[in-house]
Amino acid sequence: KIENHLRPQMFGDYIGQFKVKENLKVFIEAAKLRNESLDHVLLYGPPGLGKTTLASIIANEMGVNIKVTSGPAIEKPGDMAAILNNLQEGDVLFIDEIHRLNRQVEEVMYPAMEDFAIDIIIGKGPAARSIRLDLPKFTLIGATTRVGLLTSPLRDRFGVINRLELYSTEELTDIVKRSSTVLNVCIDNTGAEEIARRSRGTPRLANRLLKRVRDYAQVKYDGSINKEVADDALNLLEVDKMGLDKIDRRMLKAMMDKFNGGPVGLDTLAASIGEDSGTIEDVYEPFLIKIGYINRTPRGRMLTPLAYKHFGIEIE
Ligand code: ADE
Repeated sequence: KIENHLRPQMFGDYIGQFKVKENLKVFIEAAKLRNESLDHVLLYGPPGLGKTTLASIIANEMGVNIKVTSGPAIEKPGDMAAILNNLQEGDVLFIDEIHRLNRQVEEVMYPAMEDFAIDIIIGKGPAARSIRLDLPKFTLIGATTRVGLLTSPLRDRFGVINRLELYSTEELTDIVKRSSTVLNVCIDNTGAEEIARRSRGTPRLANRLLKRVRDYAQVKYDGSINKEVADDALNLLEVDKMGLDKIDRRMLKAMMDKFNGGPVGLDTLAASIGEDSGTIEDVYEPFLIKIGYINRTPRGRMLTPLAYKHFGIEIE
């Protein structure tokens, strides 16, 4: 897979998320010392922050295989039972978007996570009986952007729960520089920093922008990236100085023009710009809150003076 070679393979190459990394390193080392499988891990936070990458690093550091699937991909309890039954001792099962597992499938997970066993119903009607099938000991790594949508029985069965945070510009600069080395792109500090500053705290976006800036550098310049090249390319992509894209700006403008700066409810706001409210909550809002453009209040979302300033409007 072409994109995957940008992904770090071990903790040593994984930039940022210091606390999550330090915790996981201890739990992994302890599990290895005791010759046990690692306890189940739940990773949550906005998309693009490296949940899948972390899961594969955990498997690498444990020295086990990883099987990757997602909540919506597993439709029937039998599908889940088959996946679990095919794991080898100690393996990592990564389930992305784990909040989207359906109810019956989720119920297969309870005994699987707790006792490493599944209950299978044999026969029908009065003759039906349940037999217990032992599974290899495995580590479930669940990832979600919406931890609030997880049922408590599922959430309670994770021994380790970690929230990933948006990255700082410094961290993203290091990620852009590392990716440039992998992609064999010549970039200076100012170029890397410019891409980082406009990546909304998100490595996936930083890497995507890096590739587009590289295209631009090759066609319009001599192939190497500095601040000027990055600036030009990103302006063309309609990514502004703070990294806001068209949808961010549409949302802020709607709050300004239609809702007088708020407070406005999420669903109302979403409907007014024709976006899905879940997408706003997961993808757009976290960064706007982080940079102090939006506040969440009990009565809805509100714009801050900083957001007005972004559009050249000064308010007291
Ligand atoms: N690529 C994507 N996420 C990364 C991270 N946290 N560190 C290094 N490279 C990455």
